[in-house]
Amino acid sequence: MRNVIVTGASRGLGLAISCRLVEDGFRVIAIARRETDALREKIESLPEGALTFESSDLGDIDSLSTLAASIKKRHGAPFGLVNNAAIGAEGLLATMHNSQIEDLIRLNVTSPIVLSKYVVRQMMAAGGGRIVNISSIIANTGYSGLSAYGASKAALVGFTKSLAREVGRLGVTVNAVSPGFITTEMTASLADDDRAKIANRAALRRLAEPRDVANAVSFLMHDNARNVTGTVVTIDAGATA
Ligand SMILES: NC(=O)c1ccc[n+]([C@@H]2O[C@H](COP(=O)([O-])OP(=O)(O)OC[C@H]3O[C@@H](n4cnc5c(N)ncnc54)[C@H](OP(=O)(O)O)[C@@H]3O)[C@@H](O)[C@H]2O)c1
Repeated sequence: MRNVIVTGASRGLGLAISCRLVEDGFRVIAIARRETDALREKIESLPEGALTFESSDLGDIDSLSTLAASIKKRHGAPFGLVNNAAIGAEGLLATMHNSQIEDLIRLNVTSPIVLSKYVVRQMMAAGGGRIVNISSIIANTGYSGLSAYGASKAALVGFTKSLAREVGRLGVTVNAVSPGFITTEMTASLADDDRAKIANRAALRRLAEPRDVANAVSFLMHDNARNVTGTVVTIDAGATA
């Protein structure tokens, strides 16, 4: 059975992606700092080993080598890695603390790059694999108050394209998924009026949902996507159409 590591899998998009991949028959290793009730209930409802929680602070870059090695030891070599964990610090750049910018870049950019470095080695040794990076439409559209976050999400697209070229001949595909606005804890502070405005501007007059993003990741993990690499799949109900 194939293993997939999903980061930031305790809630929101990461939890939806993990549940969908389990439905597809993958064994999922869900990483976050804390296990939520929702994740625990899901794990308990499934056969043992289908979905496993591993606690890790992914912002601790020096721990990522050990994390990758211990996951391999406990679960076997991963077939897939979904780099989904991120923070969305909102605020005017002019007044943002440097430490806040550094924390954001560390978790949203350095961490997925370094974790991919260790996991891709295991994939290369196994003869192939799949990496999916969760970016955002903000990488291209921009959004006032999200400049550092937007930079981090654009960085993942650049990373996706170059790594896809680097590891393609070794059978590893690397793609990005760019969600539009989706209701999760990350976006909970947005007022209902603003949420409605964003939905009304989308071609489909609604917001995409976590399961829509999960379906895109599912496709990219599937054998049907074996010739898809270095690309960005946008899931935004037509917000950027
Ligand atoms: N929601 C949207 O509208 C939207 C739109 C476009 C793109 N995205 C992207 O989609 C992804 C998921 O977003 P979301 O809305 O589902 O976010 P979320 O609800 O805030 O969930 C974030 C996840 O990341 C984990 N996480 C945060 N800091 C961590 C750390 N230091 N180490 C390990 N895990 C950590 C959290 O668990 P712990 O706090 O327990 O660690 C949680 O599981 C992100 O990459 C985001 O940029 C979201």
